Amino acid sequence: MISISLTLRERYSLCCLLHQEGKPLVLNVVRRVEQELVSNPLDYDVALSFCIICRARNKEYLPITGVADFNKLSAQLIFGADSPAIQESRVTTVQCLSGTGSLRVGGEFLAKHYHQRNIYLPKPTWGNHPKVFTLAGLTVQTYRYYAPATRGLDFQGLMEDLGAAPSGSVILLHACAHNPTGVDPTAEQWEEIRKLIRSKALLPFFDSAYQASFFTCN
Ligand SMILES: Cc1ncc(COP(=O)(O)O)c(C=O)c1O
Repeated sequence: MISISLTLRERYSLCCLLHQEGKPLVLNVVRRVEQELVSNPLDYDVALSFCIICRARNKEYLPITGVADFNKLSAQLIFGADSPAIQESRVTTVQCLSGTGSLRVGGEFLAKHYHQRNIYLPKPTWGNHPKVFTLAGLTVQTYRYYAPATRGLDFQGLMEDLGAAPSGSVILLHACAHNPTGVDPTAEQWEEIRKLIRSKALLPFFDSAYQASFFTCN
């Protein structure tokens, strides 16, 4: 057995070995094991995780905002490929860890940089929303959403509550397949909500968790 003790600086340089010309140096042994795992995946899970880790051929760290192509395509998916907002460079996209991580980063960003602390959540909403936004530093309020009597949307209640929210408040909206009710506004109701949000200078914050279900079920 060989025991090696490294200083912090040495450990750091091992993580990011660079050729003299500044390009990452990937050890031959890493390339060889990678190749062996791909051509002989005895343990599929191990091979898969290894491939994901090694996918970037040069083994560099990702930039802090994530994979540039992923961000670009995500923005196109959400806003539409010919969106004026994208064309006029009014869209910024950051890749975060999971949906929950994205909500937390978004919430913290608003708590730190936005002038309003109130965030209005639909009632009911996904159980983690209140905790995530409270921990992020926002003040959680609710707006009426579900009408048990009709098992549908309480559209009037929703419009009244958003209409009464202080100007500038953050409004959390489930983009589609509302969790837990499965009830979404119609296209016409979305248009009314959009107008209200615009006229009161509210800030819409979309949690788009079930885009794929929407595409497959609709
Ligand atoms: C509405 C909603 N937002 C966010 C999430 C969290 O997504 P993730 O599992 O990617 O953290 C969920 C998960 O159930 C959800 O239902």
